[in-house]
Amino acid sequence: MKGVIFNALKEMMEEKFGKEKWESVLAKSGIEKETSILATDNILDERIVRIINSICGELKIDLKTAGEAFGEYWMCHYAPKIYSAFFVGANSAKDFLLKMDKVHLMVTQNIEGANPPRFEYEWLNDKTLLMTYKSKRNLMEIFVGLVKGVGKYYKENLDVTSAGHNKVRIIFS
Ligand code: HEM
Repeated sequence: MKGVIFNALKEMMEEKFGKEKWESVLAKSGIEKETSILATDNILDERIVRIINSICGELKIDLKTAGEAFGEYWMCHYAPKIYSAFFVGANSAKDFLLKMDKVHLMVTQNIEGANPPRFEYEWLNDKTLLMTYKSKRNLMEIFVGLVKGVGKYYKENLDVTSAGHNKVRIIFS
């Protein structure tokens, strides 16, 4: 997975819980603490999964809570700083979510070895969207946390519920 995900996890942990917590997460994951990573570097998926699991252990939270914390941090703090262009012209959670399949293709198209998640959309009625997450990484909790993070960024009360192993039902208010 791209180094940008590692860097966002690091920034979230250091900002919210302090450098020491992040260093013990790295130690638990078997990663050198000085590790400096470029956004475009490739990191083994297993390493990212190990880090996420170590964060859960260190903070004594479950994967769902960790996904929500990361989703909120990515959407409300990290992505607006480094990917501000993708927010232009997206005026609602609905607009933003509908762009996500193209955005993931776009940000990874020139990066060798990238394997972005893909999304499919199906409207059940004018307020209810089924969004399917397609990735062999199967990070469903992170996906759901990010969808909820989009709602937080746009200050919209999204109703997000599971609709299958790789699908959520999103009701826009
Ligand atoms: C400006 C907004 C966003 C940008 C620029 C962005 C970019 C990225 C990038 C570069 C990766 C790493 C991909 C790779 O290594 O192949 C990634 C991973 C991921 N993104 Fe986003 N993302 C954004 C928002 C979102 C949102 C809103 C969702 C959910 C609806 C989402 C879901 C995911 C998931 C689940 C992964 C983990 C990788 C996987 O499951 O295969 N992202 N994103």
